[in-house]
Amino acid sequence: MTAHDDSGRLHGVKACVFDAYGTLFDFAAAARGCRDRLGDDADRLTALWRDKQLQYTWLRAAQGRHADFWQVTGDALDFALETLGIDRPGIRDRLMTLYLTLDPFPEVAGVLQRLKAGGIRTAILSNGSPTMLAAAVRSAKLEPLLDAVLSVEDVGVYKPHPKVYQLAIDRLSVPAPAISFQSSNAWDAYAASAFGMKVVWCNRYGQRRERLPGAPDHEVTTLSELPAIVGVR
Ligand code: LAC
Repeated sequence: MTAHDDSGRLHGVKACVFDAYGTLFDFAAAARGCRDRLGDDADRLTALWRDKQLQYTWLRAAQGRHADFWQVTGDALDFALETLGIDRPGIRDRLMTLYLTLDPFPEVAGVLQRLKAGGIRTAILSNGSPTMLAAAVRSAKLEPLLDAVLSVEDVGVYKPHPKVYQLAIDRLSVPAPAISFQSSNAWDAYAASAFGMKVVWCNRYGQRRERLPGAPDHEVTTLSELPAIVGVR
């Protein structure tokens, strides 16, 4: 049995599960909110902060030394600020505060609305701590559009550990092949696919394909195409 027909439509999807940072929420919005003080460093800071944040999640997972995403995000920011020689009073606190209210990408609310109207359940599955995710969801006014907000804190290890993807199955009571998982992070998309979920890789950042287990079913550049892919108007 194939997961999709020639039109590319995925069949049997009962729930759409989303990565948070970079997929629903624009992590570049934090440094953008400080551009008045960061100037041209804003983009460099965003890139280094994000890279280091992800590296720390992988390294902590490999070491079995979990700390929550708020700490990891702050540690990564400290590393990035020091590397770029940015030492302005109050900038760290301001950036961390902005991380709690990141802008959603423009199509997100409309897509979630269409999915829900089409009878598909919606959830976040993220490295973010429950407090961080609740703040971002509230600030973006997405609360009514999400059936569940799932944090890796419930399993104590970061993506791409299989326990994280299993959490979505356990909490939603939907089997892996009936879940479409969306992530802008190629490595996350590949891992969810290897785990057995259907996957739509939202390649917002023009990443190359990973040489890792898994094969996303679809590659899109925004989430706008998702409702049609899962058979919703
Ligand atoms: C998350 C990161 C990986 O939200 O973007 O889980």
